[in-house]
Amino acid sequence: MTSSNLPPKRAAESVTESVQVVMPNHLNGAGRIFGGQLVAWIDVIGGIAARRHCGCAVTTAAIDNLQFREPVYVNEVVVLRARVTFVGRTSMEVRVDTFVEDVSGTRKLVNTAYLTEIALGADGHPTPVPPLLCETMQEKAEFEAGRRRRERRLSKADNPLSTLSGIS
Ligand SMILES: CC(C)(COP(=O)(O)OP(=O)(O)OC[C@H]1O[C@@H](n2cnc3c(N)ncnc32)[C@H](O)[C@@H]1OP(=O)(O)O)[C@@H](O)C(=O)NCCC(=O)NCCS
Repeated sequence: MTSSNLPPKRAAESVTESVQVVMPNHLNGAGRIFGGQLVAWIDVIGGIAARRHCGCAVTTAAIDNLQFREPVYVNEVVVLRARVTFVGRTSMEVRVDTFVEDVSGTRKLVNTAYLTEIALGADGHPTPVPPLLCETMQEKAEFEAGRRRRERRLSKADNPLSTLSGIS
């Protein structure tokens, strides 16, 4: 699972932020944002952060966590912030924090998701990614936590029933 001989990239280089305004066409029947719309925004920004790290095309292999902690209504602003937190050989873990921001600028956390993005070479197959240079204590701690998340994620991927029944 070691990284490639490519030159390392700083974790900060992948930081990506996007701001969306919730329009009427983003709502569900209850007048709140449609969850699938948020997932689409999370997937897009996660892919961009990963692409900034590896400098090639990427595809999403997994999204770990989706919990909608706050409702989001029309005309509210959704802020998404993504950064690469861990890399394997061809995979990158991207953390995406999603906030709803009110007119005073106060942000409430809606969701934190970890995405697994895979770098794809020109042949469409997984290709090695640069090592991740973690400079701050937080980046280093996140990298170590990412290693543990990867192990859990892959053991679940090997045994999909474990996520349904609690067996592992
Ligand atoms: C993700 C995908 C490219 C992996 O292909 P593969 O043939 O299994 O490739 P490999 O076995 O070489 O694995 C490549 C990397 O993906 C990781 N990976 C594979 N399946 C994974 C899963 N379910 N969850 C997390 N990571 C996974 C592997 O751990 C490996 O990472 P590493 O190189 O850092 O160790 C392939 O399953 C795929 O194309 N899936 C569809 C993705 C897609 O279309 N997404 C769009 C939305 S549906």
